[in-house]
Amino acid sequence: MLRMLPSRLSQARHSVRITTTRTIPAFQKRLFSNAEKYDALVLGAYTEGEEIALSAAQDISLATQKVLHEQLAASSFKKAGDVRTLYNVGGVKQVAVVSLGKKSDSLKGDVQRLESARMSSALGIQALRKQGVKNVGVDVSVSAHGAAEGAILAQFAFDKLKDEKSRAESIQVAPFSEPITKDANLDWESGQIYGTSQNLARMLMTTPSNLMTPKLFSEEVAYLLAGMDNIDIMVHDKEWAVKQKMNSFLAVAQGSEEPPRFLEIHYKGGKESDPVHGLVGKGVTFDSGGISLKPSNGMALMKGDMGGAATVAAALYGISKMKLPVNIVASIPLCENMPSGKATKPGDVVRAMNGKSIEVMDTDAEGRLILADALYYTSSKFKPASIIDLATLTGACMVALGEVYTGAFTNSDELWKRLNDAGNMTSDPFWRMPLDDGYLMEMKESDVADLNNLGKGRPGGAASAAAFLSQFVEGLDKEKLGELQHPAWAHLDIAGTMDAAATKGYHIKGMSGRPTRSLMEYYRSFTK
Ligand code: BES
Ligand code: ZN
Ligand code: ZN
Repeated sequence: MLRMLPSRLSQARHSVRITTTRTIPAFQKRLFSNAEKYDALVLGAYTEGEEIALSAAQDISLATQKVLHEQLAASSFKKAGDVRTLYNVGGVKQVAVVSLGKKSDSLKGDVQRLESARMSSALGIQALRKQGVKNVGVDVSVSAHGAAEGAILAQFAFDKLKDEKSRAESIQVAPFSEPITKDANLDWESGQIYGTSQNLARMLMTTPSNLMTPKLFSEEVAYLLAGMDNIDIMVHDKEWAVKQKMNSFLAVAQGSEEPPRFLEIHYKGGKESDPVHGLVGKGVTFDSGGISLKPSNGMALMKGDMGGAATVAAALYGISKMKLPVNIVASIPLCENMPSGKATKPGDVVRAMNGKSIEVMDTDAEGRLILADALYYTSSKFKPASIIDLATLTGACMVALGEVYTGAFTNSDELWKRLNDAGNMTSDPFWRMPLDDGYLMEMKESDVADLNNLGKGRPGGAASAAAFLSQFVEGLDKEKLGELQHPAWAHLDIAGTMDAAATKGYHIKGMSGRPTRSLMEYYRSFTK
């Protein structure tokens, strides 16, 4: 590998010293190999003190490296994330070089290496984006999978409702150079699928609620998934839910003029004899709070209250594209939570599909009501080996973990390990939270019903919501929540990770589409 480490002295003289372990033939005309295919390149470079080493040096001629180093050294290119765009270098119009920081940090392990590749390609693409480039070669030497994820995620923009002139042009990205370390079973194509899947979830979540009603969500997802390998999709209507006795779900839906839907999606990538995994996603396409109306400040964010539904649908899209050999059954209850003359009122009692009565103390705690029936339906009908639900469930989880970690409540150490590993690999991580009968008591306090949907409200609100949900997972011991039981169940509270406050590399301000990639990685882990 070629490296160039200019010393302080040589830098002062504006010259560079090149050390090489591979000689490039003098007759080699190309300054970047294959550069003619691109009108721009994104390159990664390790920086340590005054030293700069291009990661894809093997595919860059010495002459071009010399120019790059001179330019970079003159612009105080140092810390991880620094980006410099250089023009007309080595026959390429625009070259964005991104610092990967210290090589020893960037390559400390697979988690750091993947994240380095993601971040650097995203920052490079963003630097080039508004400068009229069409075909960009992206340095994949650190990780092809990560570089593709970053390049796709960085380009997300929800501008289809804007004036045509102000819409961002999408750019074609292709791999440049060769991975130095290969990721097992992951490559440029898998990275593109991971990135595209998360962007799909972002799109579903960002679309305003008048354009993403339960009906429109089902149509969009059915259109997207119909015809994909190993996928069967059923769109159930209100009458079906009535027949199933999903009164808890219907109690939320009844306040809205928009009819509810219940999506049932089967992915059969594994053998018939393989276990089936359950997935459930909260699909409240708008949460006004119902009669327990939310304050108007920030209410618009509640168009994203179908983040669980969006990430489940998007992960299934990606899982099918990846042809992962697993079996999954997914349930997505979809409705609006609105106040009206027909809406459920605080104090009303409903009987859920599993026969338990629930006193609805607060109509804004609607997520657990729709999940109750979806969890019971999925766990009782399909007897899955594991079941995971995702929901933008509680402000309490957002307060506890902010937007860094998704809260994970699970009765299974084995499931937790898999999930934790998957979340770390994608840098879309989980933090384990308590699933404990101690939080159940407050949910069982009701003068008139088996359960109430509010508990103590804010204090420990994420954990008491999880305890409430446990009462609807068929097969689970309803009293001893923390002990290993069947099925393995995880509740993921994504209220905090739903939305990104600011753009930073491949994190784009707005609805995040998280943790779509972690879900895909979780199911991929069964096939490794
Ligand atoms: N959809 C909200 C939770 C939420 C809050 C998601 C902020 C994303 C960002 C949920 O339906 C809700 O309103 N929960 C209540 C529950 C409470 C009444 C027990 C909450 O968290 O305040
Ligand atoms: Zn609510
Ligand atoms: Zn909600």
